[in-house]
Amino acid sequence: MIIIKSLKQIEGIKASSKLAAKTLDYVSKFIKPGINTEELNTIAHKFIIDHHAIPAPLNYSGFPKSICTSINNVVCHGIPKTKDVLKTGDIINIDITTILNGYFGDVSASYPVGKISKAAQQLIDQTYQSMMVAIKSLKPGLMLNDCVGKKIEAYLKPFGFAPIHDLGGHGVGIKFHEDPFVYHFNTNQSNTILKPGMIFTVEPMVNASLNWHVAFDESDGWTVRTKDGSLSAQFEHTVLITPTGYEILTKI
Ligand code: MF3
Ligand code: CO
Ligand code: CO
Repeated sequence: MIIIKSLKQIEGIKASSKLAAKTLDYVSKFIKPGINTEELNTIAHKFIIDHHAIPAPLNYSGFPKSICTSINNVVCHGIPKTKDVLKTGDIINIDITTILNGYFGDVSASYPVGKISKAAQQLIDQTYQSMMVAIKSLKPGLMLNDCVGKKIEAYLKPFGFAPIHDLGGHGVGIKFHEDPFVYHFNTNQSNTILKPGMIFTVEPMVNASLNWHVAFDESDGWTVRTKDGSLSAQFEHTVLITPTGYEILTKI
C-alpha cells in the first residue's frame, strides 16, 4: 500500500531528509586516501546523534553500522570497516538514512578518492545524470515506470552502462522501506500512477558494464558486488510528488 503523506508527515520527512543531506555533505569532506570507512561511520554517527536523530541502518535487520560505504565493485550495503582504507583511484558511495522525530530521510552519493580514471569519473557523472533525468520527469498522473525505470535504462544504454535489477528505490518517510518498489530499469509495467503526497527514493545503482548481475555476500549477509567485477556507482534522493511536479527533499 502506497502512503499518501499528510502535510504534517511531509514537514517531518522534509526535516529528516535535510538532515540526511547535511550529514552526507559533512562526511563527504573527510573522503581522502588513507581514511578508513569505520572512521567515516564514526563521523556520520556522531553528526546524526548531535542533531537529535538516529542513524536508521544501525541494527536495521541486523545491519551492524550507522551508514553504508560501498567501494569500487561494491554495488551497495557495504559495511564500514577499519581495514577498508581508501586509496587514490577508488570510488565510494556513502548512503545515509536518518530518523528525526520518527521520520525517515534517505540519500546517497558516489565520490572519487583522489585522482580517478576518466572511465570511473564518467560512471559517476552519468549515474548522477540518470537519476536527475528520472526525477525531472516526475509529475502527478504519469506512470512511475515511464518516469524512472524507462528513463534511466534508456539514458544509460548509449554509455554501455546498466542499472542493476535486483535492488531498487522505495517509498520512505514513515518507515525505512515502504511501497512502492522503484525499479531503475524498464519493467514494461504501468501500475503505479504518481499522486501528490507520495514520497519515495530514486537511487539507481549503475554498473560500468551492460551486465547488471550482482553477487550477494553470503558471509556478511549484506555486501552486494557486481558479478563481473566492474565498478558500480550510485546516487539517491528522497523526492516528494507535488501537485505540479516534484520536490527533492534531500537537499542541504
Ligand atoms: N539506505 C539504503 C537504501 O537506500 C538501505 C540500507 S539498508 C542497511 O535503501 F541496512 F544496509 F542499512
Ligand atoms: Co533508499
Ligand atoms: Co539509502
